[in-house]
Amino acid sequence: MTDTARSPHAATASGLPLAGAPAPSATLLEARDLVVRFGGVVALNGASLTIPRQGITGIVGPNGAGKSTLFDVLAGVRRPSAGAVHFNGRDITGAALHRRAHLGIARSFQIARELDGLSVLENVLLASLDHPGDKLWRVFLTPWQVKREEDRLIERALGLLDRVKLRRLADEPAGVLSGGQKKLLELARALMLDPALVLLDEPAAGVNPLLIDELCAFILTLKAEGTAFAIVEHNMDVVAALCDRVYVLADGAVLTTGTFDEIVADARVMDAYLGQQA
Ligand SMILES: Nc1ncnc2c1ncn2[C@@H]1O[C@H](COP(=O)(O)OP(=O)(O)O)[C@@H](O)[C@H]1O
Ligand SMILES: [Mg+2]
Repeated sequence: MTDTARSPHAATASGLPLAGAPAPSATLLEARDLVVRFGGVVALNGASLTIPRQGITGIVGPNGAGKSTLFDVLAGVRRPSAGAVHFNGRDITGAALHRRAHLGIARSFQIARELDGLSVLENVLLASLDHPGDKLWRVFLTPWQVKREEDRLIERALGLLDRVKLRRLADEPAGVLSGGQKKLLELARALMLDPALVLLDEPAAGVNPLLIDELCAFILTLKAEGTAFAIVEHNMDVVAALCDRVYVLADGAVLTTGTFDEIVADARVMDAYLGQQA
């Protein structure tokens, strides 16, 4: 990232590990044997996956495979009836959204219609409210310090808007943005808290091809800067362009995992996709 704020997740600003802290493992998030049922439907049936600290992990699979449910469990929107999620070695299975945000997990979520009237900049600033620590802090700050903190957040938000090429629209209502620009705004918003892991649900859906390229380029830049991603995506060109490793879900469990080239060469994957149309 552009500042040193991302270092608390693993190391000090100097880049050295915190004294006494164990060396960070290559695994950032680990989900084990997740089960989610909706009445008689088993949406997740023992799904497990590992998200490394570096790189982009894709989650694909036919309709109804459990992708969205898995995403919701990782994001903290849905609690599994069995299984566990560990982040940085810590059990976060039941941790609420704001707790995950605090630990360094961000998810993109659609700009709610009610927020269309707020400016593009305000929409990004809203993300900082997800950080309960910020609100508590304010109690102990002088008005001058609060002002300085607000200036810092505005600066950060404008910097992110710059990076997604939306800064010139900062004062426009979010409602004027195209579908693709909204996705970029959602990404900027997810980045506001300087996450270690960003969860993206269908980032390319409804985005025009030119903006898809821009979106992918930006995600790859963030990856190079050290942000890890987990992405659910239907557009296989996007999966191929972005993902270092892909998990294929079918019937609520992991069918196989590998590089994009490996999974497309796997006959079972084709069968799973064809099976959905039967
Ligand atoms: N809120 C829900 N209530 C009932 N069934 C659900 C709900 N969400 C998902 N399901 C069911 O769980 C299964 C997995 O759904 P989902 O996770 O949305 O799959 P995907 O995102 O891969 O298409 C499907 O059979 C779906 O119909
Ligand atoms: Mg889905």
